[in-house]
Formats: sequence, C-alpha cells, structure tokens
Amino acid sequence: MIVFKRVSELQSYLQTQQKSDSKIGFIPTMGALHNGHISLISKAKEEGILAVCSIFVNPAQFNDKKDFEKYPSTVAEDIVLLDAAKCDILFLPSVHEIYPKGEDDAKSYDFGFLETVYEGAKRPGHFKGVGKVVALLLQIIQPDVLYMGSKDYQQCMVVKNLCLQMGLSERIRFETCPTKREADGLAMSSRNRRLSDSERSIAAIIYQCLISIQNKATSGMSFRIVEKECTELMCAKGIKPEYVGIAHADSLEPLADFDPAVKMVVLIAAWVGDVRLIDNMILN
Ligand code: PAJ
Repeated sequence: MIVFKRVSELQSYLQTQQKSDSKIGFIPTMGALHNGHISLISKAKEEGILAVCSIFVNPAQFNDKKDFEKYPSTVAEDIVLLDAAKCDILFLPSVHEIYPKGEDDAKSYDFGFLETVYEGAKRPGHFKGVGKVVALLLQIIQPDVLYMGSKDYQQCMVVKNLCLQMGLSERIRFETCPTKREADGLAMSSRNRRLSDSERSIAAIIYQCLISIQNKATSGMSFRIVEKECTELMCAKGIKPEYVGIAHADSLEPLADFDPAVKMVVLIAAWVGDVRLIDNMILN
C-alpha cells in the first residue's frame, strides 16, 4: 500500500493509474478502522477496482467539540488492517491539506429536508461538514466508484444528493455496503472503542430493539407501542435513546405508524454512557 499525505502527489499517481485504465474506488473514513470499514475495501478489491482509502478526522462535521477531541486515532493499527485487506492507497492528509484556507472557506452544500430530520436535526451542521469534506475528496480523487456503509443510512442519502448537486451522479457509481456487526449484533463503529466493559455489554440492546421493531412491523401492532417498549427497555438498562423513528426508506420522510405498503427504515440514536451510537434497519 502506498501512503500519500499530499494532494498533488496523490493526484499525479492516480493520473498514471487512470491512463492505464484502472478503475478507482474510493472509501472515505475517519480512521480507527474496524471490520465494517475493511468490508468496504474488500468490496472494491473483489470488484477488481483500485482501492483508495482516506483517513481524515474532519473537524467540520463535529457539532460537538468534545466528540471531535475524543475521536479515536489509531493510524498505525489502521495501516496494518489496510495492508492486510490489500488496500492500494491510503490518503492521510492534514487539516491544512484539505482546508488550506480554513474550513469556512470550503464550498457548502444545502441538503434541504435531509438536514432537518434524525441526524440532521440532532446534529446541526453535521451534514454540511460531511458535504464539505466529501466534495473536496471527490474532486481530489475523482473516483469511478464510491463505497459507503448503510450503517450511516442518512449519510448515504446526503452523499448521493451531493453527487447529484456536483453533477457526478452519472460518473460515479455509489455502492452501499451492508452494516457489519459484532457477534451480539452491535453495529461496528469507531466509537465502540470508547465504551467501558459494562457499557459494551448493554450496547447490543440497540440492535435488539431494531430486530424487535422489524419483527413487529407487519404484525398489526402500532409503532407507538413498540417504540414505547423499546424506549423503556433501553432506559431500564441505562441507555438513553435520542430518537427511535420509522421513515420512508427512500426519502426519510418520518412515518407516524407502520405502513407495510411502503419501504420502511427504522433509525435509532442512543447514548451509552457518553458515547452516542446510531444504527438502522430496513423493515420490509
Ligand atoms: P466513518 O465513521 O469512519 O465511516 C467511514 C465509512 O465506513 C462510512 O461509509 C460508514 O458508513 C462505513 N461504516 C462505518 N461502520 C460500518 C459498519 N459497521 N459496517 C459497514 N460500514 C461501516 O462516515 C464517516 O467516517 C465520515 O462521515 C466520512 C464519510 C468519512 C466523512 O468525513
């Protein structure tokens, strides 16, 4: 694997690859890599595509400064994992390399409704920050395929919308990869490292709630009752739910109740100690 820290050096290398007809796959990350991230690299490699992974903890997308400061950084371990996964290129830029004139100077995109619900509502400015950095990275790397995880369901919708606004939807294939989970169902996340042993032991209740909601989605039961059961279960175990919501899977328009006639997604955000976790599941 070749590691680039400079945009100019990465670009000249990628140009030579493009000339030899290699397809470029891009996997943006913030590091502290786990098997969820690695599954995106593996997907690119299975498809015979050059895997370019970026590790950049993007200050612009942290609405909570403490979350940014506590974001885990494990670059040496990340490199070992990427090497083992046969990742071709790691882009490891500094903040200055990405935002030479400061993050406020970077072009900002408007994601409209998507910024007003679920993660958009609870983390003001978060998707603007994601949009800024992904737009810059797409301009730098100019990938043919973009690999992202459905673990961050709303982020996938935001980035697809970004590609549309940038006029890249035809040029870039967006590959949504399934959520990788621990044996007990907890969605893999860089933030899981911050859980204490006792917090880790209860965190999979979020997954159990998703499964229970999925099982009841077509049972004729009202969502409000299922939501109340889940909220009570989480609270009883010491987890603080921020939202438990169901929505149209294609638009994220919130649903008041189960509607088996439409494709539905359930989304949960919850605090386990001072760690905020998100997860989701398609219901039908
Ligand atoms: P990060 O949280 O590091 O995630 C990088 C990519 O890995 C995202 O596409 C995310 O959805 C995917 N991912 C995370 N956990 C996963 C899991 N358990 N299974 C499968 N895929 C998983 O998301 C970000 O970084 C940033 O917002 C970023 C897009 C890099 C912009 O800064």
